[in-house]
Amino acid sequence: MTHDQPLLVVRDLTKYFPIKRGVFGNISGQVRAVDGVSFDVAAGETLALVGESGCGKSTTGRAVLRLVEPTSGSVYFEGDDLLALGAGDLRRVRRKMQIVFQDPFSSLNPRMSIGAIVREGLTIHRLAEGSAADARVRQLLEEVGLRPEYATRYPHEFSGGQRQRVGIARALSVEPRFIVCDEPVSALDVSVQAQVVNLLQDLQRDRGLAYLFIAHDLSVVEHIADRVAVMYLGHIVEHAPVDALFSTPTMPYTQALLSAVPAPDPGVKRERILLAGDVPSPANPPSGCVFHPRCQHPARDAACAAIVPPLEEKAPGHWAACIKQTPTAVSWEAQRAAGGASPPEFYIPRAALHRSLDTSHSSPASE
Ligand SMILES: Nc1ncnc2c1ncn2[C@@H]1O[C@H](COP(=O)(O)OP(=O)(O)O)[C@@H](O)[C@H]1O
Ligand code: SF4
Ligand SMILES: [Mg+2]
Repeated sequence: MTHDQPLLVVRDLTKYFPIKRGVFGNISGQVRAVDGVSFDVAAGETLALVGESGCGKSTTGRAVLRLVEPTSGSVYFEGDDLLALGAGDLRRVRRKMQIVFQDPFSSLNPRMSIGAIVREGLTIHRLAEGSAADARVRQLLEEVGLRPEYATRYPHEFSGGQRQRVGIARALSVEPRFIVCDEPVSALDVSVQAQVVNLLQDLQRDRGLAYLFIAHDLSVVEHIADRVAVMYLGHIVEHAPVDALFSTPTMPYTQALLSAVPAPDPGVKRERILLAGDVPSPANPPSGCVFHPRCQHPARDAACAAIVPPLEEKAPGHWAACIKQTPTAVSWEAQRAAGGASPPEFYIPRAALHRSLDTSHSSPASE
């Protein structure tokens, strides 16, 4: 699919949460949950947003929809500047932007029937009423693989996977063009995860939907994403088409995440890259490259703690934030002046190679 104009354009998005202390609630600091994030999503495309828990993925997804109010930055949807819209216009645009939540157990009102949950959006946006709305609800339930007669039942009667289907039907009811899928399968059994991912893919194909698909590990996104953005401590640290990201993971953090993904070829033996220490607090992020206390790159040095790595285009369409991975616009002279001792050198540990290097030489044993 070709993408001319992005549907969604996000620029320098930040969301800081104030830390309040004491009985008077004095503000003693800020949690930098999202710290200068930029990306586009084209119509019909899936951009995956991946990173460890707490790195700011959900806050990004919610800030894009203005479910949390961004601290700064801009969000354009079909050319509308979302952050400048008043309540009425925001509601009009919001119909086209929906969200499917991570937890299918808490995201559905237990006192509402499945039918009432799916019907709510139709009523709010005046899309259908009466028997037309009933028919639409039945059709939506069928579309997500549920029986239409389930409309009269309540959420507690359903499994996690079925509830997630209800959540998807609710999002679809208002005919959106874009859905934030916030870890939609993370709470589900592994056997059910693939079914829900397949459903999302079928719906995307049939309806031309665009997704911001949030996940904490890369294995879930390999088959659904067109492009992947990797987040660490509120920043996007790598951003590339899915094949490029899996074949040439460039930011050392991505390499570590990828080393945890099971290799598709069972003959490929890999050591998992274990990251040193815990994720630092986003209230007090490390200086320079926020990943430097945990980084395994052999050229990591004092320059990494001093220089904020720009998100650079390392290969066409492949962006990464690392001053040690060549090419880089941060010159060796500048790095030396900041205390650097190791010149940049391109490095991919074997453990991060997701695809076997020698597939072209392997014998076609099964043919
Ligand atoms: N409402 C909130 N108030 C204060 N801090 C928050 C709030 N929501 C999220 N955070 C903090 O922001 C950071 C990012 O959280 P989140 O976006 O939920 O991460 P993720 O979805 O990647 O797990 C975390 O440190 C989290 O504790
Ligand atoms: S800039 Fe330095 S610390 Fe950051 S990822 Fe690159 S090598 Fe590691
Ligand atoms: Mg989250």
